[in-house]
Amino acid sequence: MGKLSGKHAVVTGGGSGVGAAIARKLVKAGATVTISGRRRDALDDVAKSLEGITARTCDVTDPDSVASLFSSVSGEHGGVDIVVANAGVAEATPFSKLDLDSWRRTVDVNLIGVYLTIHAGVAAMENKDWGRIVTIASVAGLRGYPYVAHYCAAKHGTIGLTRSVAMELATSGITVNAVCPGYTETPMLTRALDNVMNKTGMNQEDATKALLRTNPMGRFIQPDEVAQTVLWLCGPNSGAITGQAISVSGGEI
Ligand SMILES: NC(=O)c1ccc[n+]([C@@H]2O[C@H](COP(=O)([O-])OP(=O)(O)OC[C@H]3O[C@@H](n4cnc5c(N)ncnc54)[C@H](OP(=O)(O)O)[C@@H]3O)[C@@H](O)[C@H]2O)c1
Repeated sequence: MGKLSGKHAVVTGGGSGVGAAIARKLVKAGATVTISGRRRDALDDVAKSLEGITARTCDVTDPDSVASLFSSVSGEHGGVDIVVANAGVAEATPFSKLDLDSWRRTVDVNLIGVYLTIHAGVAAMENKDWGRIVTIASVAGLRGYPYVAHYCAAKHGTIGLTRSVAMELATSGITVNAVCPGYTETPMLTRALDNVMNKTGMNQEDATKALLRTNPMGRFIQPDEVAQTVLWLCGPNSGAITGQAISVSGGEI
């Protein structure tokens, strides 16, 4: 029996990158996992890769879609024990060119989406005396970075939201923590590198060096390293850890 045997987890954005790694890690620890996202094919590929993962489409910016996800999976699995609010998007643009549409898209997924997810998650944990909520923020939630003011603002907001909900739930048995990765090797990083190359004319090697400039270890983080931290927070011996923002970033912050 795994240490998460009998637990049901919902992981948003589980069809790729960090979310897929978290889903696999939780299943291997004995949990059953519902992954969600907008792209059915990507979700199905992850679900097919390991028994115990079920795929559901859901757009985290749509309150009805999130409510319907949690009510249907709660009914099927006897509630929800673990919520990982991982879905996110990143766009890069200088602040002087940052328009309201890009601001809204970024805040919609990275902050409002996290609010909707953990709000529905807390409701689905009603009557439980054990629960784990983990938000996937970023080092961009802990300090500023150029060209991503909207992303930094949303991720700072996610950490504030996480800390506040943790205080409200402190005596409930439900912990609430944020994990803050540095640049992590996922499709999001591939898009970031492509963007740097397109906008500056750099080659892949120089674009990689530019993104790693602030990283003391001089390397990208692996999705499994983020997933391992989430697994640790979800484990039976992490009940005293709440309201924290844990950096997984090679010492970047
Ligand atoms: N990669 C990095 O360098 C890095 C660093 C720090 C933090 N992070 C954070 O880590 C998390 C995971 O990102 P990743 O690196 O794994 O990138 P990714 O592979 O692009 O994954 C992002 C996931 O979010 C989902 N998503 C996006 N918009 C959504 C929406 N409106 N509704 C539901 N799902 C949505 C996507 O699925 P669909 O497109 O199918 O909806 C996708 O599966 C994000 O919160 C990101 O900000 C990443």
